[in-house]
Amino acid sequence: MPKFRNSLNIDPDSKDPKISRRAFLALLGAGACLIGVGQLVNFSVLGFLYPNAMKIPPSVFALGRPEEVLSKDGKVFDPKQKVFVETLGGKVRVQTAVCTHLGCTVNAVETGYACPCHGSTYDRHGLNTGGPAPLPLVYFHVFKGASGEIMVDKSKTTLDWNAAWYNPQVPVV
Ligand code: FES
Repeated sequence: MPKFRNSLNIDPDSKDPKISRRAFLALLGAGACLIGVGQLVNFSVLGFLYPNAMKIPPSVFALGRPEEVLSKDGKVFDPKQKVFVETLGGKVRVQTAVCTHLGCTVNAVETGYACPCHGSTYDRHGLNTGGPAPLPLVYFHVFKGASGEIMVDKSKTTLDWNAAWYNPQVPVV
């Protein structure tokens, strides 16, 4: 049974500043808890103040030099930008890999694309053919940047899979 009836077991009338070992450990624990809670609040407030726009990747990005990008034909997935980059005979086009249902990343399959989340399917052009996806997969505007690199602008889209091809040898009119 504690000698004194307070949480730190300290004599409230004593002039002696010494505290018991138990009281010291209790204070230490309480202090650690306060620091932990303070850090949690601090991080959540900072996260709230930091604008989401800063976390969104820029809409324009570089694919690379034409001689590198167009060196071989095929379709490759860019996980950072979540796009499929397709090259064929010196042309390139870029299509989103983001499912139009709830934003999962689709997989390229034999028939086109399939979303692993809720089963949406798209044909090889990206037209939605099944599942809950309400819209097709768009193509992004591809152009040659001032530095000579092939660039992609994700803010400009098209559903015309023929017009989506970009050939750096053909001047844009
Ligand atoms: S997110 Fe692709 S089907 Fe739901």
